[in-house]
Amino acid sequence: MRQYPAFLSLQNRDCLVVGAGSNAQWRARALIRAGALVTMVSTETKPQLEGLHQYLERSFQQDDPADYWLVIAATGDEDLNAEVTKACETYRTFCHEVNNQEASSFALPAIIDRSPLLIALSSGGAAPALVLNLKRKLDRLIPAAFAQMAELLEHHQDRIEKLIPKQKERAKFWRPLLDAPLALPTASNTAAHFEHVLENAINTYDPNAEKNSGNGFVSLVGSGPGDPDLLTLRALQLIQSADVIVYDRLVSKSIVEMRRKDAQLLYAGKAKSEHTMAQVSINQLLVDLALEGHRVVRLKGGDPFIFGRGGEEIETLAKHNIPFQVVPGITAASGCAAFTGIPLTHRDHAQSCVFVTGHLKNGEINLNWQDLRDPTQTIVIYMGLSGLNQICEKLISVGRSNVTPAALVEQGTTPNQRVHISTLGELPEVVKKSNVRAPTLLIIGNVVSLHQSLRWFQPEQASTDSSSSHFSE
Ligand SMILES: C[S@@+](CC[C@H](N)C(=O)[O-])C[C@H]1O[C@@H](n2cnc3c(N)ncnc32)[C@H](O)[C@@H]1O
Repeated sequence: MRQYPAFLSLQNRDCLVVGAGSNAQWRARALIRAGALVTMVSTETKPQLEGLHQYLERSFQQDDPADYWLVIAATGDEDLNAEVTKACETYRTFCHEVNNQEASSFALPAIIDRSPLLIALSSGGAAPALVLNLKRKLDRLIPAAFAQMAELLEHHQDRIEKLIPKQKERAKFWRPLLDAPLALPTASNTAAHFEHVLENAINTYDPNAEKNSGNGFVSLVGSGPGDPDLLTLRALQLIQSADVIVYDRLVSKSIVEMRRKDAQLLYAGKAKSEHTMAQVSINQLLVDLALEGHRVVRLKGGDPFIFGRGGEEIETLAKHNIPFQVVPGITAASGCAAFTGIPLTHRDHAQSCVFVTGHLKNGEINLNWQDLRDPTQTIVIYMGLSGLNQICEKLISVGRSNVTPAALVEQGTTPNQRVHISTLGELPEVVKKSNVRAPTLLIIGNVVSLHQSLRWFQPEQASTDSSSSHFSE
């Protein structure tokens, strides 16, 4: 360890900032925020700085450090800064010299401020770019509401110590509560919400229970069309804090890998002809897991409310009074349209767009074909590969021109994406010759003609090796 990490309590303690420029000012501001009595010494004129304890408009003097707990040398003059550092050594006063980590006796870390929760990062000057990168990532991952939660915990600390005197038992009480539902990233994360959840947990606390069933929570989360970078921030936070993840076939493998390493993984994938788990069993599984007190993430491809049966799953949860939330995901239509350069609406080509399912039931596709005749409407068809011939024939028979541009997008947004462009009349023949691999999406309408000029995504060479699939299958 290059440095000894510590947080300093500086309330009402004298600290000195040498210099008055912008570097000196923002360091002085941070010290003032921490409650220090900040003196600034500089020959420059006094800057506007709220909360400054005193300003000495004069040169730094060798014996100045004697009166201070710590000093920051931020003059903009390297020689003078070095002189300050040297004087501090004489008086054993800790000194930070701006832009000279080696000479400094303490570092100013990068911080993530969710006060009273404070996270400090430092590489001891070895890799500042890495520190900044990590800070940005953590900043995104730690919800702003953690500040309110930390305050709440402080407020109730004594009460909970009285209720649960043993430290080990207290840890058992806090762990599931802090992960969820207290810390679940939701729109309702407000001080009142935290207070309510904590009161409920205190009132229902049972020292003999293995797991507190009141903590069960289900998040129905859309994982997007395939590219893991299209995951929402909230989805990522939930995946990383879940106890159990119940996931589908069309969830990317790399998204499932983002879980906590001790999280339980349950596959509920439904291949077209092979229903791994019946929908009613999945619905019941979510209820049972929540009743056992788990934080469950039900991970679905695309968006849970678009051909995802998400509605049925939360209906069952609602019936059993299980708390839940729904996190939208990017649906296949949006993902495939974006990654193929086919805008679903366009002033010159399509004034509306409809999403339909081409799923075959007893060999038939149950759609209102008359509604799909409008040549200014884009039709996006999910699950349309098996019924492709029938779809194209039906659309032509109700009046859509057989030269209407049509695209079949294979494994959209992934490195295996392929786009087959043709017309309503000829697409089935093109697809037949192409060894197409699911999942696929059909886009029909004049907007498809824009692909040629607007395509931008260059996927890797499509692989014919099925083991390279991007999805969980
Ligand atoms: C059961 S539906 C689920 C749709 C999902 N809830 C959504 O919002 O995208 C599955 C169908 O979505 C389409 N699909 C999903 N991901 C896709 C992808 N990456 N590329 C092409 N089609 C996709 C395919 O038509 C697939 O058969």
